[in-house]
Amino acid sequence: MKFGVDYYPEHWPKERWAYDAKLMIETGIEVVRLAEFAWAKLEPEFGKFDFEWLDEAIEILSKEGIKVILGTPTPTPPVWIIEEHPDILPMDVNGTRLGFGGRHHDCQSNENYLNHIRRFVRIMAKHYSNNSHVVGWQIDNEFGNSHQKLCTCDSCKHAFHVWLEKKYTTIDKLNEAWGTVFWSQTYNRFDQIPAPLPTPNAHNPALLLDWKRFASDLIVEFQKIQIDIVREECPNHFITHNFMGFFDKTDYFDLAKDLDFVSHDQYPMHFREGSDLTPSPMRSAAALDLIRGMKQKPFWIMEQQSGPSGWEVIGATPRPGQLKLWTYQSIAHGADTVVYFRWRTCLFGTEEYWHGILPHSGEPSRRYDEVKKGIQDISPVMDEFKGHTSEAEAGILFSYDQEWAFQIQPHHPDLNYVKHIQGYYKAFHEANIPVNFLSEEEDFSKYKLLIAPLMFLMTPELEAKLEKYVADGGHLVLTMRTGVKDWNNAVAPKTLPGDISQVVGIKIYDYDCLREIKQDICWTKGESTDVEDISKWCDIITLDGAEALAVYRSEFYQGTPAITSNSYKGGVGYYVGTELGPNMMKQFVGYAVDKVDIRAIMATPVGVEAVRRRKGNTDYVFLLNHNGRTVELNIPSDWNVSLGREFVNGDKLNLPAYETALFTVKY
Ligand code: GLA
Ligand code: ZN
Repeated sequence: MKFGVDYYPEHWPKERWAYDAKLMIETGIEVVRLAEFAWAKLEPEFGKFDFEWLDEAIEILSKEGIKVILGTPTPTPPVWIIEEHPDILPMDVNGTRLGFGGRHHDCQSNENYLNHIRRFVRIMAKHYSNNSHVVGWQIDNEFGNSHQKLCTCDSCKHAFHVWLEKKYTTIDKLNEAWGTVFWSQTYNRFDQIPAPLPTPNAHNPALLLDWKRFASDLIVEFQKIQIDIVREECPNHFITHNFMGFFDKTDYFDLAKDLDFVSHDQYPMHFREGSDLTPSPMRSAAALDLIRGMKQKPFWIMEQQSGPSGWEVIGATPRPGQLKLWTYQSIAHGADTVVYFRWRTCLFGTEEYWHGILPHSGEPSRRYDEVKKGIQDISPVMDEFKGHTSEAEAGILFSYDQEWAFQIQPHHPDLNYVKHIQGYYKAFHEANIPVNFLSEEEDFSKYKLLIAPLMFLMTPELEAKLEKYVADGGHLVLTMRTGVKDWNNAVAPKTLPGDISQVVGIKIYDYDCLREIKQDICWTKGESTDVEDISKWCDIITLDGAEALAVYRSEFYQGTPAITSNSYKGGVGYYVGTELGPNMMKQFVGYAVDKVDIRAIMATPVGVEAVRRRKGNTDYVFLLNHNGRTVELNIPSDWNVSLGREFVNGDKLNLPAYETALFTVKY
């Protein structure tokens, strides 16, 4: 199963289903996801089930050889459940109950809701456990998507108290860890602890971080309840969930642990201000690489954009070729299966303008032709590298705890954890150097170079693990605000960057938050004397064995180090005391990768990605042209083209707008 589509047979007359199935299979679509929002249709009244329509749809699809993934329809508890238990509706931070009418109008700690889920999911799983056309399950849909504001109802508050008691065991330990002596916030009992509702001032940062962790664990637990049921009833089916790239409400590393593989929803061109109105190849690539990092293995795309997106306002139309390009980008970064969202554009409901492969009319047209050609061109090659990834030699640590801690205290109002991390990622991406995202739990020794930005919260264990990595020969990059706090989000009484300072050979006694202060740095190592503005923050660094690679150019700390390098035992510890601009980042990352001899796949013009999947001693190199114009590239003579032959002329590749070429390379 290499390609699929999200299909809603319940939105269309039965007479159409067979024709849809036929069109799908002609396109190369071998799997459909069904039913993730269909609870009311499957159980219109309490205990009155109607699986017939779904059975029939599955039967019709299977006649064409199409397999099925079922979504547990738990994001949409029907109105009769809500009517019976209005307490299921989530409560926002102002204490207002949100209403029925969208989806995810549910509190995930609510026992009434959970009991309905336990009951319904078991019945549904039992019903399909022996259906040979069903191959797997998606639990719920995009956890947290419609729960932007974490629920603060009594049930969640109680669950928070239980979570805290489990973590701290006694209230004294919590008081100590949180520092509740500040502002007379000492608690006598766990049940006195508030959900973070608005207060006249601001909450304790330790409470806020634990609240975010609790809310994340609640979702992991909510998923686990369903997984346990489905595994019991359907031992032969796989289980996945559709993630949303850099979404921040759940620790995706935790959520991934209970799944067979992770899936991701990839929408490079969005429709609302603040999201990707203009597609960014870098951000799309970063999201895919982050998702691959969840299990360090290939993944599925469960929703790949299939047309203009839109709800109340509408995004631009993806240019001819872009849907195919984005599909290939997903595959290049590690997707083994790509499922499009959605098959046909809906005639009603919130998503009337979220365009499917087919238009409203259902008549196959431009998008259908493009998707079909895209699938058919690449399908034959995909089996060759299935199961294999890029085998990156460089890694970037990603941590939800650090992200949440910076959301609570960004220091500089514009400091954003994800954007800061993407600054590093971008340097790799533009240079076409494969890089993995990884959690602190991974084995660091697989990487020659490890970038660990904003390691604000620190534990002795993590410090020791990083120290060992460098002692054993690793090259480690630490940055501004490393080691400031303990894991509970209280400040550590240490000279920065804490006990890890021996590894980077520096001490930090002072710093400067760049509020309306302009600062730039100059690269001082070797020949180059490049200068560039920096932003957000300056650590004022005292060398303690390290050497400076770049220095600040103004203010009272003019001439002091901004970037340093230190030989430590078998390896090197770098420290970056600020947020770098793109040129200095390029300079620094280029310097660091050179030192460990990490090579780029190839140099490409702006907007052309070179991405590989590596199997044994063969690289499958994708060249993806994100530009709206033709670009010319030189191709090494020993590269064999397996897709895009028509663009190759001798050692020249003329890659038209939004086109892709794929090469097989022995190394
Ligand atoms: C999300 C959801 C889908 C659909 C699309 C388009 O990714 O998972 O159900 O709502 O967005 O809005
Ligand atoms: Zn709640």
